[in-house]
Amino acid sequence: MPSVELLDPERHDRAGFTCGEPSLDAYLRQQAVQHHRDGIATTHALVDPAAPGPVWGYYTLSAAQLLLTDLREADRRRLPRYPVPAVRMGRLAVATREQGKGCGEFLLAHAVARCLGLRGRLGVRMLLVDALHDKAGGFYRAYGFRAANEQTRVLYLPLGKA
Ligand SMILES: CC(C)(COP(=O)(O)OP(=O)(O)OC[C@H]1O[C@@H](n2cnc3c(N)ncnc32)[C@H](O)[C@@H]1OP(=O)(O)O)[C@@H](O)C(=O)NCCC(=O)NCCS
Repeated sequence: MPSVELLDPERHDRAGFTCGEPSLDAYLRQQAVQHHRDGIATTHALVDPAAPGPVWGYYTLSAAQLLLTDLREADRRRLPRYPVPAVRMGRLAVATREQGKGCGEFLLAHAVARCLGLRGRLGVRMLLVDALHDKAGGFYRAYGFRAANEQTRVLYLPLGKA
């Protein structure tokens, strides 16, 4: 059973990671550790706990906010008239050899659970993603992510009640 761990450069092999999207490979290899240390984004790595070297996939989280006008009319109900607190899943990637086995869904569910878990200590109403391309948008939409309009690649998922 795979598990999600905070990225640890001592334990996790970043150099061998490849997902078919060069920018997401480069991020894990070259920037993730620094961003984690500097408070820009946390990286959450999917690994086999018995052999945690190879990274099967990862996602990143950062604090974010969303304007009310970025939400669909129906999702604005009962929200205050100022920006909505959110968490941005800036990146999600699964290693090529592990794709199509449910890892992406597992990571997404894990990120949602993480955000809901924060709710006792920090207001978080939406999970945001930046869909890199239409294919990625299709993946997120299948799980209920939506956009206020066609012009944006930022999709949001209302987190509802914890
Ligand atoms: C997109 C990605 C994260 C999906 O991860 P995955 O582990 O392959 O996906 P899963 O096996 O969990 O698939 C879950 C469901 O999503 C569907 N799906 C997978 N990739 C999809 C895509 N690109 N578009 C639409 N649906 C997709 C699967 O068919 C599956 O649905 P099903 O259960 O009804 O068959 C992975 O393919 C990836 O890392 N791709 C390269 C990087 C990328 O594009 N990242 C997106 C960030 S913006």
